[in-house]
Amino acid sequence: MAGDAPTALAMISGRERVTALRTVAGTTVTIMHRGDHTDDHIQNDHAQDDHKPTDHGGNADGAHSTDVALAGAPRGGADPIRVALLGCGTVGREVVRLLHEQADELTARIGAPVELVGVAVRRPHRHPELGDLITIDAHALVGRDDVDVVVEVIGGIEPARSLLLEALKSGKSVVTANKVLLAEDGPALAEASDASGADLYYEASVAGAIPLLRPLRESLAGDRITRVAGIVNGTTNFILSAMTASGASYTDALEEATRLGYAEADPSADVDGYDAASKAAVLASLAFHTRVTGSDVYCEGIRRVTAADIAAAAGLGCVIKLLAICERTGERGESTAEAAEMVSARVYPAMIPKAHPLAAVDGAFNAVFVEAEAAGQLMFYGQGAGGAPTASAVLGDLVAVARNRVMGGRGPRESSYASLPVRPFGAVPTRYHVSLEVADRAGVLSMIAGEFARHGVSIAAVRQTGGGGGGDGSARLVVVTHAAPEASLAATVELLAGLDAVLGVDSVLRVEDLGRTAPGVGS
Ligand SMILES: NC(=O)c1ccc[n+]([C@@H]2O[C@H](COP(=O)([O-])OP(=O)(O)OC[C@H]3O[C@@H](n4cnc5c(N)ncnc54)[C@H](OP(=O)(O)O)[C@@H]3O)[C@@H](O)[C@H]2O)c1
Repeated sequence: MAGDAPTALAMISGRERVTALRTVAGTTVTIMHRGDHTDDHIQNDHAQDDHKPTDHGGNADGAHSTDVALAGAPRGGADPIRVALLGCGTVGREVVRLLHEQADELTARIGAPVELVGVAVRRPHRHPELGDLITIDAHALVGRDDVDVVVEVIGGIEPARSLLLEALKSGKSVVTANKVLLAEDGPALAEASDASGADLYYEASVAGAIPLLRPLRESLAGDRITRVAGIVNGTTNFILSAMTASGASYTDALEEATRLGYAEADPSADVDGYDAASKAAVLASLAFHTRVTGSDVYCEGIRRVTAADIAAAAGLGCVIKLLAICERTGERGESTAEAAEMVSARVYPAMIPKAHPLAAVDGAFNAVFVEAEAAGQLMFYGQGAGGAPTASAVLGDLVAVARNRVMGGRGPRESSYASLPVRPFGAVPTRYHVSLEVADRAGVLSMIAGEFARHGVSIAAVRQTGGGGGGDGSARLVVVTHAAPEASLAATVELLAGLDAVLGVDSVLRVEDLGRTAPGVGS
């Protein structure tokens, strides 16, 4: 995400980097040559002055480079864990910084030093501070014999997919922050990981710094998770929070978000909900031990949320949040299509009661609410993006896979034994808040109520404003429904929009109680 402070590393270059890195990090830094991986080469400050990182004829494509790696002081004599970093942008450069700044502590925690043996980027001239570590040939880097762990922070589908498959197939552990790839091709990566026994960790792919995937995969492995719902996109939460706080329009709030670096120049992936949908796929897969891909997730963004919607929500004691909702629906052991256990994953803006903990999550923060049968309700909150927070999650995974390698094993894998079908979105029960402009004449209210009833949708509350003969012949009608299948609600609204008495459908928003009752909305 834009707006991250430049790292100290980004401000130094060439040979100065080693000295500067030592100064920045305040820790012992060791220079090692490619191929030299014995403890003898894990040196201290006094021994390394003869080793000049750029004295060995490296070039940008990495083909003949003599790689220079920086690692922590040795602990316990274990071989170093050799890391290839793919990508050195917002997240990658923070990974490099933390690797250096915390080298000694990482060594102590892992039981072996971590050695960065190469960094693949597209435009090497932008990374002078990394000297001979840099290459533009990511495949060659991944294929090197002296790489144990591949950390991928390039993003997107290709070349990330083929690079990670190649790494996993050759038994190299993988750490990635790539939710887009996991949502599209997570099963292929998991299969490659299972086949070779190499670790595949991806904590940073959802909700940045917030420890969420490991709790789902490990801490809650003995429980039965029923719902994971949350705010997993900081850009849209910033925009909706700004609209709520100031009454600003969507366009003005987006402009502000862009100006402050919370939105990309092209904000589509965020505001259209795709980023959150990828994360929902990852969350649903882990939480429900099944396979859910990005295309299984129903997705609606925030572009159509208006200041009037925000005000209407406030009138009902609610706020509007872009939610990623993953649920188990139906019953275990049921076999009929309606009652069978399924999984639902969806992303859309929804009203939630102000009293719900997620309603208080403002600005670019993320929070995820997990409900499990034995544990009850849990909430995970924190910074969901940004270079340093995301790098924290990457480093956490790196330490985990490095420890596994030191111990000679692999970590807990995700499981997909449940193989739950995905419930079609039209069959998912939800609640609507519908705001209509209607003709102010007798019989209109009962006609509209009749249309809801005809589609099997029960009304929880109706509120009328305006009308009464004193105005322009129109009135505003707000209808809040009880839960009904999405398809029935959508069909009702479509039909209402075609009625003569309905002058306009001003807004249609879903209402999510998330286990609590929305004040003024009924239940
Ligand atoms: N930024 C965040 O706050 C955040 C939060 C959570 C997860 N993530 C995930 O972390 C990953 C990285 O995000 P980012 O924001 O750090 O991206 P970024 O700033 O755009 O950096 C991407 C890096 O990948 C390199 N790269 C691009 N194509 C490459 C190729 N074909 N071969 C080798 N290197 C290539 C780029 O090289 P150049 O530097 O030479 O251009 C750049 O260093 C993404 O999967 C993203 O979804 C990011």
